[in-house]
Amino acid sequence: MDRPVVELRDIVKVYPDGVRALDGVSLRLYPGKVHAILGENGAGKTTLMRILYGEIRPTGGEIILDGRPVRFHSTSDAIRSGIAMVYQHPRLVPTLTVRDNMVLYFDTAGIPAGELGERLERARSITGFEAPLDEVVESLPVGVRQRVDILRSIAAGARVLILDEPTTNLSPAEVEGLMAAVEGMKREGIAVAFITHRLPEVYRIADLVSVLRRGRLVASELDPRRVGVEELARLMVGELPRAPAPRRPRPGRPVLRVEGLRVRGRVLLEVDTLEVREGEILGVAGVEGNGQDELVGAVVGYAPRESGVVEVLGTRNPGPREFYAAGGAFIPGDRTKALALAMSVAENLAFLRYAHAGPALLTPGRLVHLYREVAEAYRVVAESPWAPASSLSGGNQQKLLVGSQLHMRPRLLVAVNPTRGLDIATTAYVRGLIRGLAERGVGVLLVSTDLDEILELSDRIAVLFNGRIAGVLERGQASPEVIGRLMGGAGWQAGA
Ligand SMILES: Nc1ncnc2c1ncn2[C@@H]1O[C@H](COP(=O)(O)OP(=O)(O)O)[C@@H](O)[C@H]1O
Ligand SMILES: [Mg+2]
Repeated sequence: MDRPVVELRDIVKVYPDGVRALDGVSLRLYPGKVHAILGENGAGKTTLMRILYGEIRPTGGEIILDGRPVRFHSTSDAIRSGIAMVYQHPRLVPTLTVRDNMVLYFDTAGIPAGELGERLERARSITGFEAPLDEVVESLPVGVRQRVDILRSIAAGARVLILDEPTTNLSPAEVEGLMAAVEGMKREGIAVAFITHRLPEVYRIADLVSVLRRGRLVASELDPRRVGVEELARLMVGELPRAPAPRRPRPGRPVLRVEGLRVRGRVLLEVDTLEVREGEILGVAGVEGNGQDELVGAVVGYAPRESGVVEVLGTRNPGPREFYAAGGAFIPGDRTKALALAMSVAENLAFLRYAHAGPALLTPGRLVHLYREVAEAYRVVAESPWAPASSLSGGNQQKLLVGSQLHMRPRLLVAVNPTRGLDIATTAYVRGLIRGLAERGVGVLLVSTDLDEILELSDRIAVLFNGRIAGVLERGQASPEVIGRLMGGAGWQAGA
């Protein structure tokens, strides 16, 4: 293959809020080739391209253009170097005409406006697109805006064109037009980065494909003709979870003991015995509704027991207040119910702490202080302590919830689906926090319907089925297959 026009080397990007969007990603774009960059939502595709386009600065790594390192301080640096990017939502000035948008762009690119006609003619012949020069952009449908954006990029001499999920807002006929335009660019020797999460597009247009997952490159420069759709899908979403390396010293004394427990809820839960020790993560796997709510309710103290004993750090059969007082903390499964969304972040912290610390905290000064501590330690991004909790992103709501609990320095954490609905980076962050707790000797009861999460974090895994514990596995024994059988009600030996 030819020498790449441009190359990204070991790019790392950590956003100011601590999200590690890219972790050492390298990528090359070649003249006349379409390089598909495939990945799920949140994989880091747009972040990588915005770095190449000079829009955001990488935390680490370098960009090599024509064999030489370059540093872009703005998008106009990139544009002047022949790199253009077309966003999902084209960035044209809506109140200006197409012509004026082009003139503006030429100005940015350092090209005299007088060359517009001639250059546009060439761009038309490459792409097959027409530009309605006298129309005001806001009157144009999004498909046409995208064509304008592509035309002006090529007219201004782009040698590298980044298309970020370009088919998202297009009709099937427009998709055909776009594909034909990309073919034209290839013939012209333009290097195209084609960002997508749609597999058929890769086969349709790409000469090579790289796959990003959770900020890492998991496949580089594959030939689409030699890699099947299943393989690409697997690369995109990941392997079945692999067993993580063992990490901690032996667990210590029990922080939670359950014996002869019967709880009648949606199902009748009956647990002979269950124990969580210091420094241990006990995962509770199972299909939702198989006794998870009943178990958690009994441990945290809000579900009435028919019989049996729950002992939390020496306190027998605690109610919610005693649970917290004994050193327990609780991350419930549904953050939208756990938070008072209409109330401020600071007030929510007060509620979340109330059970533990009592009403003494409810002075504004102390609340703000508490807010600062929690926000800083757990990377909660909010406009102010008095912003409503509803104004936070889901990830920040969850960090608020988790932070409020961990800030209490618990010795037992009960966590229910702690990463449900979170993006990949926040998921990794929250899981890291839980792992870190266990490393410091906290016992964790992790109730999760996400098998990936259970396998990633747990030292031992109990599987709930129909209100009973169908089996308890050591991490070494656990595989998705074995757990899956237990979750489905098959005995430990069945089918083995
Ligand atoms: N401006 C930003 N500030 C903080 N985090 C961001 C920002 N932009 C993206 N992220 C995070 O970075 C990760 C990668 O996002 P992105 O590059 O948009 O992925 P993709 O384009 O593959 O969907 C996600 O976890 C996302 O939430
Ligand atoms: Mg994106």
